[in-house]
Amino acid sequence: MNKFYSMQVEPENGTKVRESFKFVLEEKRDVWQNNREERSEQSEPSCCLSVSNISYTVSERVGPWWDLPSYRKRWTRQILSDVSFHVDSGQIMGILGNSGSGKTTLLDAISGRIRNSGTLLGEIFVNGMKLKREEYQDCFSYVLQSDNLLSYLTVEETLTYTAQLALRKHSAKTIKKKVSQVMAELSLGHVAHSVIGGRVFPGISGGERRRVSIASQLLQDPRVVLLDEPTTGLDSMTANQIVVLLAELARRNRIVIVTIHQPRSELFRVFSRIAIMSRGELVFCGQPEEMVDFFSQCGYECPEYCNPFDIYVDFTSVDTRSSEREAATFSRMQEITSAYQKSSIYQSMLEKVQQSLQRADKPAIPFKSKESPSGATKLEVLLRRTARNLSRDRMGVLMRLSQNLIYGLFVAFFVMHLDNDVTKGAVQDRIGIIYQSIGASPYTGMLNAVALFPALRAISDQESQDGLYSKWQMFLAYIFHILPFSILSVFIFTSFLYWTVGMHPDSLRFLCFSAVVLVPHITGELLTVVLLGVVQDPNMVNTGVALLNIAGIMVGSGFLRSTQQMPVVFQWLSYLTFQKYSCELLIVTEFHGLNFTCNISKPLPGACIITQGSQIIDEGYPGALSRYTLDFVLLYSFLPALLLLGMISFKIRDRLVRH
Ligand SMILES: Nc1ncnc2c1ncn2[C@@H]1O[C@H](COP(=O)(O)OP(=O)(O)OP(=O)(O)O)[C@@H](O)[C@H]1O
Ligand SMILES: [Mg+2]
Repeated sequence: MNKFYSMQVEPENGTKVRESFKFVLEEKRDVWQNNREERSEQSEPSCCLSVSNISYTVSERVGPWWDLPSYRKRWTRQILSDVSFHVDSGQIMGILGNSGSGKTTLLDAISGRIRNSGTLLGEIFVNGMKLKREEYQDCFSYVLQSDNLLSYLTVEETLTYTAQLALRKHSAKTIKKKVSQVMAELSLGHVAHSVIGGRVFPGISGGERRRVSIASQLLQDPRVVLLDEPTTGLDSMTANQIVVLLAELARRNRIVIVTIHQPRSELFRVFSRIAIMSRGELVFCGQPEEMVDFFSQCGYECPEYCNPFDIYVDFTSVDTRSSEREAATFSRMQEITSAYQKSSIYQSMLEKVQQSLQRADKPAIPFKSKESPSGATKLEVLLRRTARNLSRDRMGVLMRLSQNLIYGLFVAFFVMHLDNDVTKGAVQDRIGIIYQSIGASPYTGMLNAVALFPALRAISDQESQDGLYSKWQMFLAYIFHILPFSILSVFIFTSFLYWTVGMHPDSLRFLCFSAVVLVPHITGELLTVVLLGVVQDPNMVNTGVALLNIAGIMVGSGFLRSTQQMPVVFQWLSYLTFQKYSCELLIVTEFHGLNFTCNISKPLPGACIITQGSQIIDEGYPGALSRYTLDFVLLYSFLPALLLLGMISFKIRDRLVRH
């Protein structure tokens, strides 16, 4: 019997309530009908997902840190409690619930993205076979609530790079075909060559961005797709189109599970299953028509012309505005939950789970397409992708190339021309330029990293969870792709400053000067990215790197206080700073072999005591000349050391951040 609900309910007061959902579009109804018809035509073996008694608890501190007695105490908070449901391929399940009811946590639990911070219990079966925890990610695709896409790539490029990361063993032709197929499936053909866009420049629409995110997941042919709030932030028409599209995706032999806020009532029949969550419990899960019957039997009718989604979520939500309301709404929610668990809908769901577990001919678990690539190939694709994205960012490239030059202009304008006369600042001006070159160049690197890396970090957090690559590979790709820009930018800066102010006129010394200044600049950026691996807030990283740089130049340069005069502990610490080696190198590069003049009409005692650059070296940096090569080696060893530290930092991030 066709169980499509046709509401002709006789209410208690006798007035006939008309069909509440008569504005359900016929075409949407067709989607659901077609679901059922086409499922039987599918040639591929069908797939089923059973979620059994998923519970998740976390241990939380009772009070805030400033209230020590309560902060010391902990309580166990139940986020999910005994959630069970069963979905077959071809079906789309919508999970509703008020904010904080546990929808996202449930998807996180199913997709294997729950952090180690709590206790996760329960089992997940696909085709009647129990999945191991580490297999969750390989089986399910997860589209997060926010779109993490590179702004300057086109839709086709975005999908092609993802396909290259996901399906590396395939030929370029196969990847192109796959991308075209997925774009067609998600109606993205018309924007294939449009850029994604970002906050500062327009690109494709919000709905199209959502579809690109979904398309990226479909490249790996997942049989189970989970989507967290795919319609949030979209206008209601676009939101509807997305849900109808998802229903069509489900119809092609997939399972689609989607959390959703306030869907329009016309989507009521588009969903094959509707689940309602409240306080971490599954209050109801069943077909739309079963849902109306169930709530009616519980005594909670959906009034005429009201959106059933809103009404049923309201009935099951706990209102915490006052303790009386909380007690009343909580007991109503418990009453509905227990009615559901006693209902035939729940029993038939449990039977389906049992049937799938006891099936003799269980189809294999449908894992996503995944070819194990070489680390070098992944790195190469990531490098190409980030470089292409940055190369199209005109302001970004201009900023990178010009920031050091502009800063060089300030210094050159201030110093104008170096003199050889000690009474005209021959020594002080040179030391000032060295101090500025070493002290300021880490800041430009730091600013670049803070501006550009967090967006890439968000993408790598997501894609590493999708199993495309490891977070440290994105870190390496970022560092490698900035190298040419850094070298060029520093070279432009040093070429201008060195020759304009008239430093030691020797090409080899100029090259050494440039090679030394390059390291603080890259170190500033590297150190920032390393810290961004373990510290989420870029502002904190900014402050941290700035303070480290200030401390480094104080302890390492020997300009503020002569190294020999510093307490031994600082002398030892200075060996850990790149500023020590770079300042020593620049002092030797500039002062070695330099002779000063001293033209003063009324000589003051000691005014002309410095006559040669080597005196500066011997006084402030004894033995620096003989350590020149060693200093270079030690200075450059900071780069591989920081690369290693970065890889460790992003390995730690794997544990800290699940997505
Ligand atoms: N690891 C955790 N530690 C502590 N609390 C957590 C943790 N994970 C989730 N929660 C809490 O569990 C509750 C459910 O969160 P969840 O994000 O799943 O809700 P939601 O239904 O998706 O809400 P929304 O509709 O606003 O997205 C929230 O109160 C959240 O603070
Ligand atoms: Mg959520």
